[in-house]
Amino acid sequence: MNLSTNPSRSTWRKIADSRLINALAAPNGMGRYLEALNPMWSLDQNRIPAYITAIHRETSDSVTLELSPNGDWPGFRSGQFCQLYIEINGRLHSRSYSLNRRAGHLAITVKAQADGLVSKHINSKLNVGDIIRLSPPMGDFVLPVQLPDAMLMIAAGSGITPIMAMVEAALKKGYQGGITLLYYNRSEADTIFIKRLQELASANQHFSLLPVFSDGSSELSGHFNQHHLLKALSFQNTLSAHTAAVSLPECFVCGPESLIQAVSEEYKQFGHAEKFHAERFKPVINVSGNTEVVGKLAFKSSQCEVSSDNRNLLEQAEAAGLQPQAGCRMGICHSCSCLKTEGSVRNMNSGEISHGEEYIRLCISQPLGDVSLAI
Ligand SMILES: Cc1cc2nc3c(=O)[nH]c(=O)nc-3n(C[C@H](O)[C@H](O)[C@H](O)COP(=O)(O)OP(=O)(O)OC[C@H]3O[C@@H](n4cnc5c(N)ncnc54)[C@H](O)[C@@H]3O)c2cc1C
Ligand code: FES
Repeated sequence: MNLSTNPSRSTWRKIADSRLINALAAPNGMGRYLEALNPMWSLDQNRIPAYITAIHRETSDSVTLELSPNGDWPGFRSGQFCQLYIEINGRLHSRSYSLNRRAGHLAITVKAQADGLVSKHINSKLNVGDIIRLSPPMGDFVLPVQLPDAMLMIAAGSGITPIMAMVEAALKKGYQGGITLLYYNRSEADTIFIKRLQELASANQHFSLLPVFSDGSSELSGHFNQHHLLKALSFQNTLSAHTAAVSLPECFVCGPESLIQAVSEEYKQFGHAEKFHAERFKPVINVSGNTEVVGKLAFKSSQCEVSSDNRNLLEQAEAAGLQPQAGCRMGICHSCSCLKTEGSVRNMNSGEISHGEEYIRLCISQPLGDVSLAI
């Protein structure tokens, strides 16, 4: 029985959705029985099972997993990410990973973070044949449908993953503009996709690679600065003799906050803030965590009440022993959306305060006084 193709999956879904079958399969539903027979037959479209078909070591601390999801996988736009769900020591964890293609397969590339639970597990414990689960793709940091005349890509470390997907997709489409990639790493050996990027650059006159290694082995050195920007632009002929006349290309940045801020400042300074696009892998908390918070936090469905503090509601729920769904933990993926039935919260990214019944993202909400949540 093959459930991996769309036609047979839709037939199974119709059967599973029928009232009679659901009544016979109660209380778990047909989908659960299929999943018990073979995890790849799951009908859960929010946690789509995917086989690991190959594992490639990229650097000493990063790997690429080639994946074969079941027929529910909807495809993705270059630059998007998904939530990866994985069980570690009996507990389900979820993290965001950018989507890519490798040898025609869906792929993700994961850099092991020091003390990182999921990224280290993926780097050292997974094997070909293991099954992980993926959410449908999400995110609007994507390659534009109408490609601009020139693009400047800037990445550091694992921030290359969405950028690589965009560069490869643009070149595959036969892009005739210029793409320059400024790419920051400690050394060549630490650089994810370095061989593929070098090959792309030598095979394609529309793509220039400017690596910046902090070990001093590259032409450019140090952190991003205006000199790096002007050097990158000189590859695209968008630079006139006087820097005031620079027409900046559409820019896509993914890396640490300091890099994102530095590039954003340059784009603002040259009056091209609208051409600047960034993706963050780590949250930026703008609101001071020192706000004194006194109150009660009630989790209604779990029939649990605790004294609240100034951490975000996701951390407080977890500290209270709950296991709410979560993904990016920075307000992007909406996995942690939850109904607040009473009370006021502060959005820790924008500082905005809101009151009463509403859906909030737990990971970026700080309680102000008594708060009740539906979970
Ligand atoms: C939209 C999006 C796309 C992402 N795409 C990728 C990707 O393609 N490849 C990839 O490797 N990662 C990616 N990430 C980061 C990834 O989701 C995890 O945060 C990362 O793998 C660390 O998870 P962990 O469980 O190992 O660390 P945790 O156990 O959650 O954290 C452990 C420690 O690591 C620090 N930490 C967490 N994340 C990072 C980070 N990104 N950089 C530096 N320190 C960190 C934490 O502050 C903490 O001190 C993405 C994140 C987002 C939001
Ligand atoms: S965990 Fe992604 S928005 Fe909260």
